[in-house]
Amino acid sequence: GTIVVLAGGLSHERDVSLRSGRRVAQALRDRGHDVVESDVTAGLADLLATTPDPVVFPVLHGGDGEDGALRTVLDLLGVPYVGSSGPASQRAFDKSICTPLVTVRKPEQVALPNSVFRELGAPALVQSVVRQLGLPLMVKPSRSGSALGCTRVDRVEALPAALVAAFAYGELAVIERFVAGTEVAVTVIDIGEGPRALPAVEIRPRAGVYDYTARYTAGETRFIAPANITDENAEACAAMGLAVHAELGLRDLSRTDIIIDADGPVFIETNVAPGMTETSLVPLAVEAAELDFGELCAALVRQAHV
Ligand code: DAL
Ligand code: MG
Repeated sequence: GTIVVLAGGLSHERDVSLRSGRRVAQALRDRGHDVVESDVTAGLADLLATTPDPVVFPVLHGGDGEDGALRTVLDLLGVPYVGSSGPASQRAFDKSICTPLVTVRKPEQVALPNSVFRELGAPALVQSVVRQLGLPLMVKPSRSGSALGCTRVDRVEALPAALVAAFAYGELAVIERFVAGTEVAVTVIDIGEGPRALPAVEIRPRAGVYDYTARYTAGETRFIAPANITDENAEACAAMGLAVHAELGLRDLSRTDIIIDADGPVFIETNVAPGMTETSLVPLAVEAAELDFGELCAALVRQAHV
């Protein structure tokens, strides 16, 4: 069959997705696979209809590619694809849905629609949120990625502006208690032998904050794989990644982001279409596990689901 690597899309993470897609496509071509790279366009259904035995590898971050919408269309078209189903992706991608669903340790969260923010006005709302969650806080768009629209809030006065920044990416924001500690990511792969957690990768941004620039500029972040954490925390992080993967009904590949504080790991979020760029975490975890990235991609394609 022909592998259709889907990358790009109309989300704010378009550039990241194009970089991830190139890497996946190249890794598969290097192993002799027939690969077509495509963006998500009106011609996609035609492309799939005219491609012999297509298998889709969605490498779309944010928006339709990661929120399950496109995967649901592939289900309707009967085209096999790599990764979690449409409904599972939807559960995982939206932080206001995902965080309450998982039973692991997680920060207290308040979800706030823009309409309510505008109706109640900032002062009353800010007081009640801060009374409930304390400070500092993290404010995030409920449906986004790569830290876009995310702000750490240390003072009450800064909360309204942080909410406006989050609403720039969608009409729902989540406000969470800020978790301070060691940031790690746990990749879970399932290529036929059941879900397996790869070594946690530790994230040390030079400037202290793992924002968009720190994520995608070479040299801006130091990655330590396996993470420099205690065996106890390493086990707890692996268990958390596996628990989240199972609880949300994820398939094939996921990456769960965690902060380890004095009491152990705290769940931050999970990704069904994790970054695959030169500075991304999954390829580093694959390397730390002494696996071959191209072989992993090929194994995922072989077991693509209809
Ligand atoms: N949202 C980006 C692509 C990531 O999680 O790696
Ligand atoms: Mg994410």
